[in-house]
Amino acid sequence: MDYGRNEKYNGVARLLHWVIALAIIAEVAMGLGHEAWKDSFAVMPIHKATGITILALSLFRLYWRLSHKPPPLPSTVPGWQAASAAAVHWLFYFLMIAVPVTGWLLASSGKSPIQWFGLFDIPKWPVEKGSALAETAHEGHEIMGKLFIPLIMLHIGAALYHGLSRKDGVLRRML
Ligand code: HEM
Ligand code: HEM
Repeated sequence: MDYGRNEKYNGVARLLHWVIALAIIAEVAMGLGHEAWKDSFAVMPIHKATGITILALSLFRLYWRLSHKPPPLPSTVPGWQAASAAAVHWLFYFLMIAVPVTGWLLASSGKSPIQWFGLFDIPKWPVEKGSALAETAHEGHEIMGKLFIPLIMLHIGAALYHGLSRKDGVLRRML
């Protein structure tokens, strides 16, 4: 098969990549800013609803990724770079699921209902406030949520290096 330099991720993969990327950046900002912003708008209900949406989209995206082979990288990309990109990408998939799941568990232990943008209730897991599960989920949510920041910086740095300096078509595969 002829894999041209212009071959891209398919439209579904590209759409999901960008929708989820923007939502995650907003989500990290809301998570970190919720104390400071809580007087101006109800940050947490939006954080929870957006996070649940990210979970659903990410599960579908993972299914899509496993059932659709991505285009191969250009042969000019050294093996160590391809391997580190794959490691970061799989870590992203893990976090895209583990971060909202831990958020959902910790929010289940709170007293506020979890709603999807005021339209319907999202069920809560039976998690007791102060239980070991609630504490672990809380800790995990904060640590893994913040882990997104250096990984996103690394990922954007790599994308721009390919797009602006190497100009090898790697960035175009996702545009
Ligand atoms: C990809 C999705 C998500 C990301 C990236 C994310 C990220 C974050 C971050 C960075 C924080 C701040 C942690 C800190 O202050 O140390 C946070 C806090 C929080 N998140 Fe999320 N979150 C996500 C999904 C969710 C979901 C789905 C829920 C609940 C349904 C949720 C509930 C919470 C709650 C209740 C807090 C406040 C914890 C506290 O300050 O005690 N999050 N989130
Ligand atoms: C929260 C932000 C982001 C997350 C979580 C994220 C996640 C991912 C994941 C998981 C992949 C692997 C796709 C696969 O093979 O299944 C990927 C690929 C890619 N991303 Fe992102 N991304 C984010 C933001 C960005 C941004 C801002 C850019 C551009 C500046 C970008 C450019 C790319 C490119 C070019 C690829 C394709 C790499 C390749 O061909 O191997 N991403 N991203």
